Amino acid sequence: MVETEKIIEVVKRTKPFFRDREAVGNIRVKGLADYATQVDDGVQKFLAEELKKMYPDIGFLGEESYAGEQVSGRMWIVDPVDGTTNLIHHYRQSVVSVALASEGEIVLGIIYHPYTEELYCAEAGKGAYKNGVPIHVSPVKELSHSLIAVGTSPYYHEYAADNFAVFQKIFLQCEDIRRSGSAAFDLAHVAEGSTEAYFERNLKIWDYAAGLLLIREAGGDVTDYEGNPIRLTSTINNIVADNGHLGEEIRAIINE
Ligand code: IPD
Ligand code: CA
Ligand code: CA
Repeated sequence: MVETEKIIEVVKRTKPFFRDREAVGNIRVKGLADYATQVDDGVQKFLAEELKKMYPDIGFLGEESYAGEQVSGRMWIVDPVDGTTNLIHHYRQSVVSVALASEGEIVLGIIYHPYTEELYCAEAGKGAYKNGVPIHVSPVKELSHSLIAVGTSPYYHEYAADNFAVFQKIFLQCEDIRRSGSAAFDLAHVAEGSTEAYFERNLKIWDYAAGLLLIREAGGDVTDYEGNPIRLTSTINNIVADNGHLGEEIRAIINE
């Protein structure tokens, strides 16, 4: 196994990258409304180098260098900045997501919010924690008493009509909906029980790898839109994350 505390220390060292306004303003276009800044590239390079120094035998899959590789053996799965659009707009809601996969399972997940210094961490079989304190999913069982986070799949406008029709249906049955702009942070919120569920179409593996374990270890569930468990063999998935009570009802509404 790896030394979790040492990895957490490395992840926390990404904080200064987010303060560098010049790097935030240095933007390259990847696709429709899809950008990376020099912060994304800097954080990824820093983590890749530091993790390699510590664990030369563990592979690395990072969003900003992704070239279609599959998850295999032991591998880090990194989203250096989840919430790049927020970063560009100085919305102060972006996180670093680092997961370790081993033989097809996520065994370590870390999500770090550099603005608030919230650090979420889960190790397989050892529970989920925020800044060292155990966290659990919400016990709420009724959709009518729930706060539900939605993801807009911003890089896939072709799904907008379907997505927003589902958001409206969910909105009319729950207390309210939320949209943070960071999938990993949305997953962390489900894990700590501040929302009851979150769903989004077409997420990439680096968006959800760490959050997946965090939610499982906090007592919740993560499936695809059909209710199947998430397999690391697929690097893109429609995700429903919930507190273990609302997933079925939400999937039924999505698939109506
Ligand atoms: C995006 C964010 C956003 C979600 C998108 C993701 P990025 O990640 O998590 O909240 O709606 O689906 O791609 O591009 O900022 O790393
Ligand atoms: Ca992301
Ligand atoms: Ca990203």
